[in-house]
Amino acid sequence: MAKYVKDVLIPRDKIAEMCQRLGVQISQDYADKEIILVGVLKGAFVFMADLVRNLTIPVRIDFIAVSSYGSGTRTSGVVKITKDLDTDITNKHIIIVEDIVDSGLTIKHLRKLLSTRSPASIAICTAFDKPARRQVEIDVEYVGMQIPDEFIVGYGLDFDGKYRNLPDVSILGDDSQGGEK
Ligand code: IMP
Ligand code: MG
Repeated sequence: MAKYVKDVLIPRDKIAEMCQRLGVQISQDYADKEIILVGVLKGAFVFMADLVRNLTIPVRIDFIAVSSYGSGTRTSGVVKITKDLDTDITNKHIIIVEDIVDSGLTIKHLRKLLSTRSPASIAICTAFDKPARRQVEIDVEYVGMQIPDEFIVGYGLDFDGKYRNLPDVSILGDDSQGGEK
């Protein structure tokens, strides 16, 4: 598997530190508040699992699924809800949990959509942020790490559905798009 990815960009111990820092910060900011973490499937499932275990306040979780990319590495700009929340978020404090903010289109759309359901507040927490590729202006309240303009895989992030299981974040290798599977 390792031959499909180039360099490790963020090793697992740095990711663990990042989750701990975010957990402490969110636990402080939302002390005494009822929060629901909304994980954006599929990419956020690994980060969500680490983040919740670093929270010291009671928390509910839910998931929403959107399709943003096809099988390529570029966004289509089209964001479609393929699985909606199970929870009523009226008067609840919401934190949208994303794997990565790239163009910003997905998160901008989601924030707008969820804000129509009268939550008490909405914040965004992303593991990774690629500010160089932003196409729309958005506020992201919690950022794990800013990364350069590279396509990354691992820690929930995929290329063509694969490599989500890699524990470190790596840059996609040149031979990952074809050849031997
Ligand atoms: P945005 O709408 O362009 O901000 O795209 C956000 C979504 O695109 C993320 O939730 C990821 O699923 C996907 N994405 C963006 N950059 C990468 C990357 O470097 N690796 C894997 N997926 C990515
Ligand atoms: Mg995603």
